[in-house]
Amino acid sequence: MTPMNLEDAFTARQNKALISETVTPEKTAAYEAKVAQGRDDPEGFWMEESGRISWAVAPTHASTSDFTGNVSIRWFDDGKLNLSVNCLDRHLKDRGDQIALIWEGETDGVRRELTYRELHAEVCRMAAALRGLGIKRGDRVAIHLPMVVEAVVSMLACARIGAPHVVLFGGFSAEGISERLVDSGAVAVITADAARRGAKRIPHKATIDDALKLAGTISSVKHVIVVNVTDTDVEMKAGRDHAYSALVSAQAPECEPEIMDAEDVLFLLYTSGSTGKPKAMVHTSGGYAVWASYTLGTVYPQQPGDVHWCTADVAWITGHTCVVYGPLLNGATTLIYEGLPSSPRPGRWWEIVQRNRVTSLFTAPTAIRALMREGDDFPRQFDLSSLRALGTAGEPISADAWLWFYEVVGRGKALVLDTWWQTETAGIMLGPVPGATPLKPGSATRPLPSLQAVLTDEKGNIFEGPGEGCLCFTRSWPGQARTIWQGHDRFIQTYFTFASGMYFSGDGARRDEDGYFWITGRMDDVINVSGHRIGTAEIEDAVGIDHRIAEAAAVGVQHDLKGQGIVVFVVMRANKAGVLPSEIGEVISRQVGRYAAPERVYVVDELPKTRSGKIVRRLLRKIAEGQTGEFGDLSSLADSSVVQPLIDIVARERKPA
Ligand code: PRX
Repeated sequence: MTPMNLEDAFTARQNKALISETVTPEKTAAYEAKVAQGRDDPEGFWMEESGRISWAVAPTHASTSDFTGNVSIRWFDDGKLNLSVNCLDRHLKDRGDQIALIWEGETDGVRRELTYRELHAEVCRMAAALRGLGIKRGDRVAIHLPMVVEAVVSMLACARIGAPHVVLFGGFSAEGISERLVDSGAVAVITADAARRGAKRIPHKATIDDALKLAGTISSVKHVIVVNVTDTDVEMKAGRDHAYSALVSAQAPECEPEIMDAEDVLFLLYTSGSTGKPKAMVHTSGGYAVWASYTLGTVYPQQPGDVHWCTADVAWITGHTCVVYGPLLNGATTLIYEGLPSSPRPGRWWEIVQRNRVTSLFTAPTAIRALMREGDDFPRQFDLSSLRALGTAGEPISADAWLWFYEVVGRGKALVLDTWWQTETAGIMLGPVPGATPLKPGSATRPLPSLQAVLTDEKGNIFEGPGEGCLCFTRSWPGQARTIWQGHDRFIQTYFTFASGMYFSGDGARRDEDGYFWITGRMDDVINVSGHRIGTAEIEDAVGIDHRIAEAAAVGVQHDLKGQGIVVFVVMRANKAGVLPSEIGEVISRQVGRYAAPERVYVVDELPKTRSGKIVRRLLRKIAEGQTGEFGDLSSLADSSVVQPLIDIVARERKPA
C-alpha cells in the first residue's frame, strides 16, 4: 500500500470509527449472554467450559481462589487429567488422519506434515524414552530447541509423563540458561546441535555445555538429549548425552499417560520482572487446559480444514498456548516455521500462507512493522485469500500498522484481532470475539467473557468510565499463574500488593467511552524489545559484572521497528581505565542474550538521583529520547546540575535508534 492509500484507508476507517462489517445480532447476543453469565455466575460459567476437556476424573467445582493474604489460586482442583491425552489421544477416533502439525523448514522445499496419529506416535515414543531415562512425574525437563517438530513433541511428551517442561529461548546466553537450569532444578535438557539461520548456524548444544559447566555441581541435569537439526558436529559426553533419534527410534509408539491432578504443575516459564533475577511462572494442568482451549476457541473459532499459524517461538507463552496447546486441544492444524520472517527472502511468510491455505495468522507488532517496511509488493504477489483472522499480541500496535495488516495482508476481509495477555495470564485476557466485537484499530478491545478487568488510580482505587490507569483484575481465571517457582512471597509482592484483593498486571491502559481498552505500556521497570520482556535490573546487573563500572541505568526508548530499544547510561569507577560503549554491549549480550543488546550506551559522570539515592529513570528515558527540556518537576532530584551534561552527551552522540 502506498502512503497515500494508507492515509485514505485510515481516514475512511476513522470516520467509520469501528470495523463492524462481520458483526451479527445473533453473535452479539450470544456474546453478551456469556459476558453476563461470566460476571454473575463465574462458577457455572467455568464448570460449563470445563466440558471442553476430557477428564480422567471430572471436577466437581471450579475456582477456590483467593487474592488476599497468602494468595491461593486453584481451579477444578478435584479433577484429574492428562494434557497430551487431551491434545492427541482423544482426537484419534474422529481426526486421526487430519494434519495436526505442519513444519515449514527454512530451506526451500523442506517441510513435514504429521497427522494426529503420527504426532501421537512420536510423542509416545519420546515420552517412553524420557521414562526410560528415569525421568518421572514432577521432574523438570528443560527444552532448548529451535522451531522444529521435536520442540512440540518434547513438550507433549513431558506432559504425557507429568514432567513439567521449562522451555528456554534459543537467544538466552549460556549464563542465562545456567541460571534457569539451576533455579528450576531441571534433570534433563532437550536441545539441538544448532539452529539454522540461513547459512549461519546458531550453536545450541555448545551453549548447553557452557551453561552446564557454569552451573557445575549445583546443576541437577543428568541427561542431555540432542536433536540433529543441521548436521553440525557436537561433542557428546558419554553417559550424559544422548542422540534424540537413537533414543526415540528404540521405543514403541505407546506410552501410558500419567494421570495428573488438576493442580499438578504442567510447565514453568521464565519471564522478566522489575528485579534482576528472572522468575519462573508456574502453570498447572487442569485450569490451563480449560483456559487454553477456551481463549483460543473464543477468539479463533475453528472450522474443519482451518490452518492456524502462530509465528511465536515456542519459548514464549504465545508459543505454548497459541502454537501447541490451544490449537491441539481444539483439534486444529497448527503450523510452525523454522526461519525468521523474511528469511531466506522477503515474501517467505506470504509464500507459506499461500502454500498451506493458512486461515489464521497470529504474530507480533514487531514483525508486522518489519514486513510493512518491506513494502506492499511482497504480500500482493501471493494469494492470501484463505486468511480469515490476523492476530497480534505482545506489544502495543499502532493504528497504521493495524490498518496495514488489515488492508494489505487481510485485503479488508480478515479481522485483525489484537489480544492483550502475559506469561502470567497464559492466555488472552482482552481481545475481540469475531462476529460480536466491532474492532477499533490499535485497541485490544474488551475483556473476554468472565474476566473482570478494572482500571485503578496510582493508589489502587478503582474508577469507572473513560480514563487512564493501572490495569488490574479483580477475579482469578483458570490459566492464571499459581505462583513464582520457589518464590511465593515475590509472587504476592509483585502482583497482589499494589491494590488489595486484585491482580496488578504491571501495564497501564486507557478505557474509552465504549469501554474499549488501549494498552499504554508497562508501568514498571520492564522494557519490551520486539515483544521480549527484559527487566532494567537484569541489564544493570549484567553491566555491573564489569569491575570498571560503578553503576548503570537502563531505560527503554521508542524504536521504530522494535517498539522499544534499550539505552544504557554507565558511570565509571574512579581511577579505572575507560570503557568502550561496545564493550558494554558485549557484556550484556553475553550475560543476558543477544536480544538484549542495547541501541546506545552513554558513559556519563553522574546519574540523576532522588535524595534517597533512587535513579530517576523517567527523566533518563526522556533525555535518551532526545528531549532537552520540559521535564516537569525536578525538585525531587538531589542535584539538578547533573541534567545538562546528560543532555549534552546524548545530543552529541545520539544517532537515530
Ligand atoms: O506490556 C504488555 C505487553 O506484553 C507484556 C506481556 O509480555 P509476555 O509476558 O511476554 O506475554 C506476551 C503474551 C502476548 C504485557 O505486560 N503486551 C501483550 N499484549 C499486548 C501488549 N501490549 C499492548 N498490546 C497488546 N495486545
